[in-house]
Amino acid sequence: MTGAMQFDTLIIGSGLAGLSLALKLADQQKVAIITKKSLLEGASAWAQGGIAAVLSQEDSLAEHIQDTLTAGAGLCDPATTRYVVEHARPAIDWLIAQGVPFTRDTNNDTGYHLTREGGHSHRRIIHAADATGHAVQETLATKVLAHPNITLLEHTIAIDLITGNKLGFQDDRCYGAYALNSLSDEVSTIAAHDTILATGGAGKVYLYTTNPDTVTGDGIAMGWRAGCRVANMEFIQFHPTCLYHPHAKSFLISEAVRGEGGILKLPDGTRFMPWHDQRAELAPRDIVARAIDFEMKKRGLDCVYLDISHQPREFLQQHFPTIYARCLALGIDIARQPIPVVPAAHYTCGGVMTDLNARTDLTNLYAVGETAHTGLHGANRLASNSLLECMVFAEAAARDILAKPSGPFIPLPPWDESRVTDADEEIIIAHNWAELRRFMWDYVGIVRTTKRLQRAQHRIKLLHEEINEYYTNFHVTSDLLELRNLVLSADLIVQSGLARHESRGLHYSKDYPDTLPQAIPTVLNPPPQKLAPPLQTYS
Ligand code: FAD
Ligand code: SIN
Repeated sequence: MTGAMQFDTLIIGSGLAGLSLALKLADQQKVAIITKKSLLEGASAWAQGGIAAVLSQEDSLAEHIQDTLTAGAGLCDPATTRYVVEHARPAIDWLIAQGVPFTRDTNNDTGYHLTREGGHSHRRIIHAADATGHAVQETLATKVLAHPNITLLEHTIAIDLITGNKLGFQDDRCYGAYALNSLSDEVSTIAAHDTILATGGAGKVYLYTTNPDTVTGDGIAMGWRAGCRVANMEFIQFHPTCLYHPHAKSFLISEAVRGEGGILKLPDGTRFMPWHDQRAELAPRDIVARAIDFEMKKRGLDCVYLDISHQPREFLQQHFPTIYARCLALGIDIARQPIPVVPAAHYTCGGVMTDLNARTDLTNLYAVGETAHTGLHGANRLASNSLLECMVFAEAAARDILAKPSGPFIPLPPWDESRVTDADEEIIIAHNWAELRRFMWDYVGIVRTTKRLQRAQHRIKLLHEEINEYYTNFHVTSDLLELRNLVLSADLIVQSGLARHESRGLHYSKDYPDTLPQAIPTVLNPPPQKLAPPLQTYS
């Protein structure tokens, strides 16, 4: 029963949630960050538009709160929304103090350029051109790598949390996690006083997504298996404008392009958004994505077009250097041509339920970032509120963790591989990945019906059975772990969709097209935990 690594805090994930929390703890604690690929892989480094915060004198906290509540279609938690909006400015000040090179603008009372995105009543998005996530993550990663109290374990994928129930203690604590090193194939036991799920969302459950490959719902699935409630999983945000091109996998065209005047057009050049909403291209994302989906299906189109060619070339090169260069490399000159775009799965609004300190239902287990459901996003996230949420709840979790006394470490059993062998064939994993992502796109997409959700549920049940059998009998691999988590995330999305008998925000059902008068979150309770035999039998 020896050999467990021990840290004050174990952070699972190296996105903005994980890195900012690590830096906030590390002056006073020994912290481990485990991340399943390399340090900068994850959604955070891909973020384009920026971070929403009230920075200008012309803006107000009340308006940012109201915009968030309006986009969230009545389902945001008002206390959480106020908390996040009020803590936005210190979060941005902290990033500036770390050295993040936000785009400057001397004509503005803040000294920084503020862009605009759908659903915002003001220019309030601070950004680093169109590669905000990269700028933020690079800055924080440099600090993390230089900090003597932070141990970084790359290519290390958390398998499951170690809980009191799994140890036979009958308590609701989290004691750390088991993690697989995908290069050496070894599983480690990592003990920690506090453990943080900072693993991002579940966007890869869909065939078409703006998300990187890491976004496989791991934290949501691990939290659920460990006994945490999850909420609002039916609210998957589809970003309206993902580049449509055979050689461009998952490339986003930032909403800031619409914020700076981009117009959505049909192939014949007709503008269509005013037919759907008076806010036109700057309506909240659920409305714009649904409008594009409607026009594409009605007219049998492969894509629609986003036209920003009326802006001068220099403006586009300055504000959207990444998008400009990427499109040009694919033969699209955005200063002269409209950009072909389609909606794609982008953001998981639901997740592991947390409170204002980022605590989950398990003692000593926190969830921060896209993995968590804090109540901020309601039925549809307001653009650029996600990076903000990562920052605000990383700070809240750090404060809570540092204020607690930490007890002694208890001995933890090693990962038990005595009953498994090497898999004879891997094809089942690749096949099931492809099948899951295809039917989730077809049956659980922008427009849903009860019949389609039931079809998806039936297939998910079969996949669950196959994967559980595989998991029980064979050595774990990262592909298997991710598939297991994706299938569980899909199940939670579908269960939640079936439970909602209305259309609200991102969940639109043809069978329940109306919005009910009262907005109620969908809270799923995990099945009762199986109590393991007492700990000493492992020795
Ligand atoms: P991530 O950044 O996804 O990080 C999760 C980390 O966990 C990764 O390091 C991953 O490898 C690791 N991980 C996952 N599972 C495991 C496991 N089992 N074991 C170990 N490690 C694991 N939001 C905004 O507010 N503004 C924007 O401009 C914006 N633009 C976006 C553009 C794109 C293309 C995308 C995809 C998203 C964008 N978003 C934006 C959303 C935002 O980027 C994400 O919601 C946010 O970055 C999530 O941060 P996170 O730290 O929670 O997760
Ligand atoms: C974008 O730049 O369009 C993404 C912003 C976000 O997801 O909040």
